[in-house]
Amino acid sequence: MESSVKPAVIGILALFICVHLAMADVGILPRCSWAGLYNFGDSNSDTGGISAAFTPVSSPYGMTFFKKPAGRLSDGRLVLDFLAEYIGLPYVSAYLDTINTDYRHGANFATGGSTIRRQNETIFKGGISPFSLDIQTVQFTQFKARIIDLWSSGHPAADKSQLQRPGDFSKALFTIDIGQNDLSVGFRTLSKQQLRPVGCLPVSTSNVRNPEPGYLDRYGCIRYQNDMAMEFNRQLKARVIKLRSELTEAAITYVDIYTAKYKLISSTKEYGFYEPLKVCCGHLEKNVRIFCGTTGIMNGTTVHGDACANPPVYVIWDGVHMTEAANRWVANQILNGSLSDPPIPATHACYKHL
Ligand SMILES: *[C@@H]1O[C@H](CO)[C@@H](O)[C@H](O)[C@H]1NC(C)=O
Ligand SMILES: *[C@@H]1O[C@H](CO)[C@@H](O)[C@H](O)[C@H]1NC(C)=O
Ligand SMILES: *[C@@H]1O[C@H](CO)[C@@H](O)[C@H](O)[C@H]1NC(C)=O
Repeated sequence: MESSVKPAVIGILALFICVHLAMADVGILPRCSWAGLYNFGDSNSDTGGISAAFTPVSSPYGMTFFKKPAGRLSDGRLVLDFLAEYIGLPYVSAYLDTINTDYRHGANFATGGSTIRRQNETIFKGGISPFSLDIQTVQFTQFKARIIDLWSSGHPAADKSQLQRPGDFSKALFTIDIGQNDLSVGFRTLSKQQLRPVGCLPVSTSNVRNPEPGYLDRYGCIRYQNDMAMEFNRQLKARVIKLRSELTEAAITYVDIYTAKYKLISSTKEYGFYEPLKVCCGHLEKNVRIFCGTTGIMNGTTVHGDACANPPVYVIWDGVHMTEAANRWVANQILNGSLSDPPIPATHACYKHL
C-alpha cells in the first residue's frame, strides 16, 4: 500500500460561507461554527478508506494513540485529526468504511495511494488507489444527494441518526490534501534519462548511491524532487487564487504544508526529534527493505519490521508517512494560519477576506 511519496503536500481549505471582512478584524471575530469536515486526499489524510476497501492496516500502525490499527498510516493521529480537534469536531469517518461510522459531522473521501489524475496503475502494482480525486468528488456528490433524499419527506422511517442535515453542507469545512502520488508516479515512469531518484523520504533516499555533487541537499533530501514539488505548489497557489474569482461565494485558503514539513526535516534536533531520515518502523537501509509490519530477510535472518522503542522522537514512521508526533508538530505550524494564504487560522477560515 505504500506508494513512494515525497514531503510535498498541498492543502486547500475551502468552505462556503460569505462573510466579507478585512484581515485586521480576524482576531476579534468569533470562531466559525463549522457544521462538518469533508476531506479529500491520499494516505496523509486517510482515516480508514483504503483499509476498508482493500487490506486492513496492520499492527504496529496505530500503536501510540489508538493502541491498535485505526486505518491510518501512522502510529497515531494524522494532521486531519488534529485539525478536527482544533475546530472542535470529532474525527472524520471514512466514506468507504461500513462499520461504526459517524457522518453527523462530515465524511472522509481520502484513500492511501490516491492521485489527482487517473493513473494507468493499480493498488496491486505501485500501490495507486483507484479512488483518484475525480472519483472522490463523484462519491461526495452521491453522498450528498442520498443524504438530501433520505431527509426528504419521502423517507419518514429512514435512520438518519448517523447522518448530517442537508443544510449543513454549506456550513462545512472542505479540505483537500493530495498531489504527492502524482509526482511519485511521474518520477517512477519517466524515461531513464529523465528519471532521477526522490525528496526527503527514506523510501527514496535509502536507494541513492554515490550521488553526484548537489544531487542531495545538506539534509540528505533529493533536491530535484523537492524542486518539482515546490513548482507544483507554486502553480497550485496560482490556481487557488484564480478559483477565488470564479467561486465568489466561497472562502478558499491555500495552506503550505511543504514549508512546515521541510522546516521539521531541516531542524529536527532543534524541535526535539532524532535524525530526520531515520525510520521508526521497519528497516529501510541500503540493500534492506523490510516495511513496517511486514517480515523479510536481513543478513540471512528472518526479521520483522517492528516499531522503534520511542516513536515520538522520530519524524518518519514507516519510510513514507510521518509519526503522530511529527503530524502534531506540522498541525501546530499550519492550523494557526501562519503558512496559509490568506493567513487566518482554521478556526476563522469561514470568513472571506477581501
Ligand atoms: C493512460 O493510458 C491511456 C491509454 O494509453 C492514455 O491515453 C493516458 O494518457 C494514460 N494516463 C496517464 C495518466 O498516463
Ligand atoms: C547486517 O549486515 C551489515 C553488514 O553486512 C551490518 O552493517 C548490519 O548491522 C547487519 N544488520 C543486522 C541487523 O545484523
Ligand atoms: C503559529 O504557530 C507556530 C508554531 O507554534 C509559531 O511559530 C507561529 O509564530 C504562530 N503564528 C501565529 C501567527 O500565531
